Amino acid sequence: MLRPSCGAEFIFFLEEKTMKEQLEQIRAAAKSALNHAGIEQEIEDLRVKYLGKKGELTAILKQMGSLSAEERPAMGQLVNDAKQELEALIATRKKDLKAAATELKLKAERIDITLPAKMRKQGHLHPLTGVTNDMIDIFRSMGFDVVDGPEVETDHYNFECLNVPADHPARDMQDTFYLAENLLLRTQTSAAQIRTMETRKPPIRVVCPGRVFRADEVDATHSPVFHQMEGLVVDKGITMCDLKGVLEQFAHEIYGPETKVKFRPSFFPFTEPSVEVDVTCSECGGSGCRICKGSGWIEILGAGMVHPRVLESCGIDPTVYSGFAFGIGLDRLTTTRHKISDIRSLFENDQRFLEQF
Ligand code: PHE
Repeated sequence: MLRPSCGAEFIFFLEEKTMKEQLEQIRAAAKSALNHAGIEQEIEDLRVKYLGKKGELTAILKQMGSLSAEERPAMGQLVNDAKQELEALIATRKKDLKAAATELKLKAERIDITLPAKMRKQGHLHPLTGVTNDMIDIFRSMGFDVVDGPEVETDHYNFECLNVPADHPARDMQDTFYLAENLLLRTQTSAAQIRTMETRKPPIRVVCPGRVFRADEVDATHSPVFHQMEGLVVDKGITMCDLKGVLEQFAHEIYGPETKVKFRPSFFPFTEPSVEVDVTCSECGGSGCRICKGSGWIEILGAGMVHPRVLESCGIDPTVYSGFAFGIGLDRLTTTRHKISDIRSLFENDQRFLEQF
């Protein structure tokens, strides 16, 4: 006899096997297929194949009509049991496969945190910037503001207002780069004193860090570009004691409390009296070494009481107010602090050098 296909197949089988046998066969086949399915979609396909509208188990149910009234309830029960069993199996298999897929995905995405990390090269502040920032912190803690001034200055602010007229010999010490008749690269941050006094009323307490320029020959201790931090205090009753106190405090914070500070008489056209300030060498503690060239002292700044004429030219009455100013060499401070023997290293931008700080 020829085997008809599809739905007709059941009729053929039903003729040969009992419905019960048929049911068992479908149930076993379905269970085996479900247990062997590897992905969720396969389970769904099997559900349609067995339990769908045109599914094999449904086909059996449709055949129930051919049974006798006595046989029907028992058979109905069997088909229902099979159906429930398969439905439960489908649900657990779906759940299992979903969990397995998630597991697999997580495994694939897992990051091995024990692997050495890809380090991103991290830079750091230039030693000069680090020292400047430390100094700003120190002066801020003493109530100073930070101000800025232009690197391209007028002759007026860089010299004239600071009591250095065109024919003054002090100009020779600060030979600079002229950009035009009265325009130059500032030789000192002191110009910031004038600009501050013109725009602020006393009490004034400011520091101004920045680059300055002089037509100096380059060697281990000289560079045509270097850095200063100007300081200015103007108020009623400011004396040399205040100057000494502030600068001593600063020296102790930068170099350590054991540092001795020496004030030597000096001359600056815009301060009177003027001093130069030395600190005991932080390398040898004052006994003399290569860094301090055997003297035990290192000169770090120039300072003095603001000249009454300078106050007056900025519209501040010198009979009411007085003040002090200082100019600290930042490069010297950096080289002594980090034991750098040649100032040029600060400006060469050689990473092998800079990475050491
Ligand atoms: N401007 C001076 C210099 O460059 C330093 C200084 C600043 C001195 C303020 C006195 C007061 O040498």
